[in-house]
Amino acid sequence: QRETLILGIETSCDETSAAVVRGGTELLSNVISSQMDVHRKFGGVVPEVASRRHVERITIIVQKALEEAGVGRNELDAVAVTQGPGLVGALLIGVSAAKALAFSLGKPLVPVHHIAGHIYANHLIKPLSFPLVALVVSGGHTELIYMKGHNQFERLGKTRDDAAGEAFDKVARLMKLPYPGGPQIDRLALEGKPSYPLPRAWLESDSLDFSFSGLKSAVLNLVHNANQRKEEIHYADLAASFQDAVLDVLVEKAMLAVKKTGVNQLLLAGGVSANSGLRVRLSKRCKEEKIDLRIPPLELCTDNAAMIAAAGTYQFLDGHYADLTLNADANLPL
Ligand code: KG4
Ligand code: ZN
Repeated sequence: QRETLILGIETSCDETSAAVVRGGTELLSNVISSQMDVHRKFGGVVPEVASRRHVERITIIVQKALEEAGVGRNELDAVAVTQGPGLVGALLIGVSAAKALAFSLGKPLVPVHHIAGHIYANHLIKPLSFPLVALVVSGGHTELIYMKGHNQFERLGKTRDDAAGEAFDKVARLMKLPYPGGPQIDRLALEGKPSYPLPRAWLESDSLDFSFSGLKSAVLNLVHNANQRKEEIHYADLAASFQDAVLDVLVEKAMLAVKKTGVNQLLLAGGVSANSGLRVRLSKRCKEEKIDLRIPPLELCTDNAAMIAAAGTYQFLDGHYADLTLNADANLPL
């Protein structure tokens, strides 16, 4: 049996990406065109600008992904695309491109949930073994997901307000750091000590939900009060304090989810999994608790189409195809 060849397309936010994956695990190409430089001057992603950039880049990126993989488009088994969640105007570009390609090739069109993609980034390094718990932390999501098999996602908890990455970006903005703020805070935190007292939202004692807006407000007040009193702020210490507060909650809730479900595999997924402090802290805790922790390499942490192709492979094998009326869904549930 020939191994499945899937083309993945991802345009949910500010990365235009296409990739080819063989057999669900073998990465043949993963072309990513970042728009970070375009959005940086606005201090965040401007949706219409993102859509316009995607439409300019998408066809060339797909062509490049096929070329780098050494795969002819007729050899593809299916075209997988991020259907949502994300910026609707950005998603529409990927969905339209995927439809046109699937239609012209006469191949199945496979809709993929962006979070499923982030989880499957780990599958490209080492095949997932079930059951498992995934901590998904990105600019739009903070969720704990339980999986007992391919394509089976059960949400254990989610953020009640801001996503972890969103909190990083907003606090970075307060500290006048350039967009995206997550990596900037990460870097700055390495030079500081967590000396500012900041709140941790544990919520109800057995809750697997998250909340980061109180922490964000606490940082806002701290900066505001210091400015009013003309006190100096030690930004590296503030970055370290903020990051410490986020990581405390992320790590302990992930451990609680593992304990509650009795699994021994934990996956980290999403853009915030690039955070060096989170990687170190979670590794240490999982070692203590003898939990098999999987963390994607940096290039697969942030948005990319390889993860969409990997997740799409199992949707394809299960026969989850979309017809040509497929639409983007900014709030697609997992
Ligand atoms: O998964 P992703 O690329 O896009 C979404 O699906 O949202 O995640 C982007 C988020 C941004 O909020 C960014 O600031 C954050 O991931 N991020 C980080 C780091 N690298 C990226 N946050 C903390 N530390 C990092 N090193
Ligand atoms: Zn993402």
